Amino acid sequence: MTEREAYTISSLELHLFFLRIMKEHAFFLSAGSTPVNADFSRGALRFKQQFETLLSRAINLGNGIVRPEILKSCEIVTGCTLTAEQQTESLTGIPINKKLTHMEESMNASCSPNVTIELSHHVKQLNQQTLILLNGFLRFQESIVEHVQSCRMFTSNYPTLIDHILREAIYYRDSLMALDNENCNQNMHHKADETFWNRIMMEHALFMRGLLDPAENKLIVQANTFAETYAELLDMATEKVCDCEEAATEPLDTLAETEKFRDFKQTATIGLTECEIRSIILPLLSDHILREANHYLRLLRMQNCN
Ligand SMILES: [Fe+2]
Ligand SMILES: [Fe+2]
Repeated sequence: MTEREAYTISSLELHLFFLRIMKEHAFFLSAGSTPVNADFSRGALRFKQQFETLLSRAINLGNGIVRPEILKSCEIVTGCTLTAEQQTESLTGIPINKKLTHMEESMNASCSPNVTIELSHHVKQLNQQTLILLNGFLRFQESIVEHVQSCRMFTSNYPTLIDHILREAIYYRDSLMALDNENCNQNMHHKADETFWNRIMMEHALFMRGLLDPAENKLIVQANTFAETYAELLDMATEKVCDCEEAATEPLDTLAETEKFRDFKQTATIGLTECEIRSIILPLLSDHILREANHYLRLLRMQNCN
């Protein structure tokens, strides 16, 4: 595979995961706002629409081009995404473009795609447009963080969640810039950034713990245990960097723990969509963090194969 082909495929795969993540972040920012911040809410929805436009482009360009493992990983859509969107739209009154979900569900993959020069050109343009939009979205989110931290804005999203989604946007932007600057073949098999993703997973567990109804004690305890596990994994990574003494106990395995956490998120998403769990978690938020676990699992498995 040539560098141009690898660059084109990697870019499309990155967009298919992250453009949906970004448009949902914009949705959550809008859904968590209050009437006094109507301008911010409208601003978030404008970003949502712009990410949807780019996602539609990425789906059209990536159909028949992306690798089978991307579609199989359930990081683009899960079996719950459409139901979660329908329910979240009717619960919040905020429209969600479900046509994109249908388009993603019927996407095809290829092991030997025909990556034309014209396609690479379109993808290069898409990358540039995405970087411009991402920079604007980052400034928008930074202004929300600033307002929330100085107690000038109330939102039903935890301040840590706003910071969390800001870090995911920075990670996306950095990954996209790395594709432009680095060896493209390396990017096809890039190492999972375990410190970044383990912190993301830990925070997902903390959000779940805090957004479940107090009556859901069993699930709260389980979520808390996952948060502790990821905190331990993060500590282990720091110890490795410090070259400290070997741990006396069997080290935790990130892949195995993330598989367990993915199963927990999947069960929770089904439970929420079937109205079996009491919480203030929007079904789409649960499906969103499930897809992020699926994405991380694919990166971890890919890393173990190399
Ligand atoms: Fe996210
Ligand atoms: Fe996340």
